[in-house]
Amino acid sequence: MAALRPKPLFNEFDIATRVAELSEQVSHDYAKMDEIVLIGVLKGAFIFLADLSRRLTIPRKIDFIAVASYGDSTTSGAVRLLMDVRTNIEGKHVLVVEDVIDTGSTLGYLMKTLAAKRPASLKSCVFLRKNKPLTVEVEPDYLGFDIPNKWVVGYGLDYAEMFRTLPYVGEIDPGDLRTES
Ligand code: IMP
Ligand code: MG
Repeated sequence: MAALRPKPLFNEFDIATRVAELSEQVSHDYAKMDEIVLIGVLKGAFIFLADLSRRLTIPRKIDFIAVASYGDSTTSGAVRLLMDVRTNIEGKHVLVVEDVIDTGSTLGYLMKTLAAKRPASLKSCVFLRKNKPLTVEVEPDYLGFDIPNKWVVGYGLDYAEMFRTLPYVGEIDPGDLRTES
């Protein structure tokens, strides 16, 4: 496939600065609690979770959950659970760490599914949110950046498994990739 370079949206410095601010905010808000369980949503949130969690100044545990949505690589549909958390989160303070809100269905599904496990509190920390109408109404408790309604890659986010480990966040036009491959 021809080398297509995503158009940069946030560079490494922009990202590190914002993630540091979010960590500080979370550390401050949870300072009085004995422990927080961060639940990273695989795969897209793995880098955000790694950076965010290492900057926290409060006791924390890490777990992961994996979901998939039906639909092709750039459209969201019904969500299904691929891998549940291993931690018993009943009575725990839980923070869901997600890469991006597109239609809202994934985060909506996760909040509902995790709430059923009766955590002491349940909040979300989302790296990116697209500027478009939501299919499922969700409001992140912590948000990195609002972005245009484009397909974004890098810093954990992929397009068909490509570009996931780019150190910056960039926009692509999936149409360009399809015609080039
Ligand atoms: P939603 O359920 O429509 O809000 O979509 C959220 C999920 O779709 C995220 O967890 C991502 O895995 C994926 N996704 C949505 N938009 C993008 C994007 O622009 N780049 C990469 N992944 C995305
Ligand atoms: Mg995701």
